[in-house]
Amino acid sequence: MKNPINITEFLSQHIQGEHGVALNAMLGDVISACKKIAVAIDAGALAGNMGSLASENVQGEVQKALDVISNDIFVEAALQSGLVAGMVSEEVDAPVALAEKTRQHGQYLLMFDPLDGSSNVNVNISVGTIFSILKSPNNQPELADFLQLGTEQICAGYALYGTSTMFVLTTGNGVNGFTLDVKTNEFYLTHPNMRIAAETQEFAINMSNYRFWNEPIQRYIDECLQGEEGDRKKDFNMRWVASMVAEVHRILVRGGVFMYPSDSKSKSGKLRLMYEANPMSFIVEQAGGAATTGLQRILEVKPNGIHARIPVMMGCKKEVERIAAYHQVKSKRK
Ligand code: AHG
Ligand code: MN
Ligand code: MN
Repeated sequence: MKNPINITEFLSQHIQGEHGVALNAMLGDVISACKKIAVAIDAGALAGNMGSLASENVQGEVQKALDVISNDIFVEAALQSGLVAGMVSEEVDAPVALAEKTRQHGQYLLMFDPLDGSSNVNVNISVGTIFSILKSPNNQPELADFLQLGTEQICAGYALYGTSTMFVLTTGNGVNGFTLDVKTNEFYLTHPNMRIAAETQEFAINMSNYRFWNEPIQRYIDECLQGEEGDRKKDFNMRWVASMVAEVHRILVRGGVFMYPSDSKSKSGKLRLMYEANPMSFIVEQAGGAATTGLQRILEVKPNGIHARIPVMMGCKKEVERIAAYHQVKSKRK
């Protein structure tokens, strides 16, 4: 690419307005955290970063060493601007306690999943980091202050540690993607104004859960599998990386639809609303796609806890609308 713009210049030129100065400062910290996490992931077994710990997170999932390392890197970096009044991490039970000194001036809340798809780490497959920024109602936020609708997000993004390290971001004015140049340790704009293709023949879902799904999801997938011979009259392809960041990135680049529905064994779904579903829904909508629980736009769901789970169907707008319509048929039949 000829003279791509670096992320710092891009942000200072494109993120202005009410939150401009603060966002530039906080994003600088988030970007520096993601660069450090990329180094820890790259080092892998050489640095003893692989493997599981004896501990579990609040959600009963066994923590990988890199889950905890990434969480610590993120918290440390995000404290630097002094603008964050409260943080929520997948890996920490309650909102992360900030030093009194730091939160006196904090005006924002930061939600994050430090390492998404962490079961991929040991097998050297892509993982990511997801984050979301909200305005804090005050600088000593209570639990209830965190439980805002996704529509209130002022910024969301992810880092993808894949064949290249990328940083993808929205502040509510489209989606832009940056690639890390390992020689200069700088992100450069390589994917301006990312848009999700209006048509697709590719879906992503963990098929092993088929027997646990509800009827609308089974119907949608059955029709995809019938291909040319069925109602859809076209063949579909399938992918499942088991890292939401990698799936959503693929959808931004070449289209598709991603699903992690609720089912009879996980009644609320698997993915977390505040630091997985909401930031990714904001990005997907900003790229011209849609995101639903099947019954409701994800961004309009009121969280009932910082680690609340939710069914997620997102990506190509037409496909997401079809899935939502199948849920409507079912609720009318009841
Ligand atoms: P995390 O590693 O942060 O817990 O998230 C993993 C999530 C998500 O990224 C992915 O889509 C899904 O879990 C994979 O789940 P399965 O292993 O059930 O396929
Ligand atoms: Mn995750
Ligand atoms: Mn995670």
